[in-house]
Amino acid sequence: MCRLIIWGAGQRTKTCFERSLLGDNEVLAIVESMPGEKEKFGYPVITPDRICEFGSYDYVIINNQYYYEILPIACDMQIPLEKIIITDHAVDEPFKTCFERGKAVIPQVYEMNKLVLKRIVKTNERDLLDETSIYADSKYRDYEYGSDYFRYRTFEFVAEQIKEEGIEGELAEFGVFRGLFSSVISSKFPEKKIYLFDTFEGFDSEEGRKELEAGNCSDTFLESHKDTSVERMLLNLPYPENAVVCKGFFPESIVEKAKMEHYAFVSLDVDFEESTLEGLRFFYPRLSDGGYIFIHDYNTQYLKGVRNAVRRYEAETGCRLKKIPLADRAGTLIITK
Ligand SMILES: C[S@@+](CC[C@H](N)C(=O)[O-])C[C@H]1O[C@@H](n2cnc3c(N)ncnc32)[C@H](O)[C@@H]1O
Repeated sequence: MCRLIIWGAGQRTKTCFERSLLGDNEVLAIVESMPGEKEKFGYPVITPDRICEFGSYDYVIINNQYYYEILPIACDMQIPLEKIIITDHAVDEPFKTCFERGKAVIPQVYEMNKLVLKRIVKTNERDLLDETSIYADSKYRDYEYGSDYFRYRTFEFVAEQIKEEGIEGELAEFGVFRGLFSSVISSKFPEKKIYLFDTFEGFDSEEGRKELEAGNCSDTFLESHKDTSVERMLLNLPYPENAVVCKGFFPESIVEKAKMEHYAFVSLDVDFEESTLEGLRFFYPRLSDGGYIFIHDYNTQYLKGVRNAVRRYEAETGCRLKKIPLADRAGTLIITK
């Protein structure tokens, strides 16, 4: 039996407790960088700087998809690397060893997550052998990208199509958060500017409240999107010099330069109805012929407003968009022109 501190208080940790996946280990505390509650799942919630107060812990389990950002923070806090376990099936060091360490301590969690990458490698073997694939770059080979293989791989084919046909225009993402997808988009087009629209402080409180009341999201969902910043996002971008950061509430945040552009590829990933509609109003008229818009969350069970926004845009413009629904994790809709 080991004494554990669990870093991450989201759905994954909830699942661990609900399914008793931590075995007979003793949990001392749950770590959250911005704790909302004093207790969660029956354990005290602490900030990362308080971990060292629990001198007698055996392991800190990083049970969070942003493990690659958390691990350096944990090391800065003098948590010995050999006491850190991550639950994502990462393939690069030092994450890989931290994942493998979990085999002896939390075998059920380890086995469950080990399957994730195996399944992706098996079913997409041919693509993974393709040297031009983003998955050939170790940065994009871990859980975060692998868990939404179809979205990223489809984007990659779309990017190749744009290049092959010489489709003109810049790139944009509205709904950037920490820059995960923006970094993939930009990595395929080292020569293009990428406009990045976000508050970088989470959703507008009024729009968030409306969607919460409509049952389209939870409090945790709203809270979790506050934890980012422009600086943090830029660290993830392969070509930060290409970024035009438009921080603030959209559409007020649109800069003059962005209005003058045409766009070859746009990602709309803002989760809610009004903002998605504003995104379409701005970007669709500026989409180049042969360009693409990816609208995330179009076919999910939650975030119903995204689909409504597309319907409303078609109704107000009287134009039927060319729509290709994608069977990826969040039901992305591809719009072409
Ligand atoms: C799901 S996240 C985006 C995730 C991101 N595409 C990624 O790859 O990780 C949604 C983001 O949209 C932003 N957002 C939503 N509505 C907005 C608006 N009207 N103006 C600015 N940002 C907005 C939120 O701040 C949040 O960061």
